[in-house]
Amino acid sequence: MTEFPVITTTGLTKVYRSGDREVTALDGVDLHVREGEVYGVIGQSGAGKSTLIRCLNLLERPTSGTVTVAGQDLTALAGRGKRANAGLRAARSHIGMVFQHFNLLSSRTVQDNVELPLEILKVDRRERARKARELLDLVGLADKATAYPAQLSGGQKQRVGIARALAGDPKVLLSDEATSALDPETTRSILQLLRDLNRQLGLTVVLITHEMDVVKTICDSAALMKGGRVVEQGTVAGLLATPGSELARELFPVGGEPSDGNRTVVDITFHGAAATRPVISELSRTYNVDISILGAAMDTVGGKQIGRMRIELPGRFEENVVPIGFLREQGLQVDVADGADGDAENADNADNTAPADAAVPTPANPAPAASPLKEGAK
Ligand SMILES: Nc1ncnc2c1ncn2[C@@H]1O[C@H](COP(=O)(O)OP(=O)(O)OP(=O)(O)O)[C@@H](O)[C@H]1O
Ligand SMILES: [Mg+2]
Repeated sequence: MTEFPVITTTGLTKVYRSGDREVTALDGVDLHVREGEVYGVIGQSGAGKSTLIRCLNLLERPTSGTVTVAGQDLTALAGRGKRANAGLRAARSHIGMVFQHFNLLSSRTVQDNVELPLEILKVDRRERARKARELLDLVGLADKATAYPAQLSGGQKQRVGIARALAGDPKVLLSDEATSALDPETTRSILQLLRDLNRQLGLTVVLITHEMDVVKTICDSAALMKGGRVVEQGTVAGLLATPGSELARELFPVGGEPSDGNRTVVDITFHGAAATRPVISELSRTYNVDISILGAAMDTVGGKQIGRMRIELPGRFEENVVPIGFLREQGLQVDVADGADGDAENADNADNTAPADAAVPTPANPAPAASPLKEGAK
């Protein structure tokens, strides 16, 4: 992965108009995707995820704002006409797209489906066939070249979809819920394939998903969308280290009730070396306090060990300032779970990108529930 931004959007806005009704599907999105990373976009149904990804290759024309991919300003290339001009078509051929329902042509063989974008690019017959077979080999379907889509499993169809998306040697692969029509095991194998392609080809992958597990499994970075806005974005490790991050809470749910009048509930996030030190027993011994562990989760994110733990200290927050300070001195991230919104104590030191009015409900986007995902999960 490099620090070079391969996709940048600034102030990206999309308003759908039908009759006298307006729906603001995107409301000023600034996205930054670095070259070679796997970037997850999550959010409830109607949050604007598909609209965003379709604006990244200008399948959907943004109402305002800019989209730059691999150094090219696509919005400038697009001009004003409705139809894509030659410049935009050429730029688009370097952006692959994978769909939830595969979008294969049933009358064509697997190989002919993969050749389709190359036909459009007027590549000659022999080169097309060579390239298609090479790509089918890459996705593990070399023996299915002459089969028809109806003869394939869902996972195999998606592999064809991925091979076809790679035909134009894209720098960027966009995936809109590529695994949500697949069973869990097939999902894992498709995610692994995307990860392998990312590593082998240096391919940048932007994927939309409803599932936190997808983010945990393969994403380097993630963005959370609500009501047409990106309310949090960053590396997964960085988000986990951000006080009050909603994505971090969703990635590592620890359970347990929040603080009330006579007890203080604290969420602790352990990174790297801190994950293996006995800080809880040190805390208990040093301050002679009884600590209850309400919940805990351990996982590996981006190859690094990360843990979260929810503990309870007797007494109100004011009485626990010293033990909490001790935990922070140990290099741990400590969030006080404070009733309804879970992070009142962190309201002014949260440095994520969430604007206070991020989740403005619109008629088409009813106010989201506490979880960014569960409501919208299909
Ligand atoms: N072609 C369209 N015309 C009018 N409104 C649209 C159109 N496409 C999307 N919308 C509206 O824009 C908003 C965002 O839709 P979008 O499809 O981007 O959401 P999403 O996050 O992908 O949802 P899901 O998880 O259900 O796929 C929704 O309110 C939707 O109704
Ligand atoms: Mg969608």
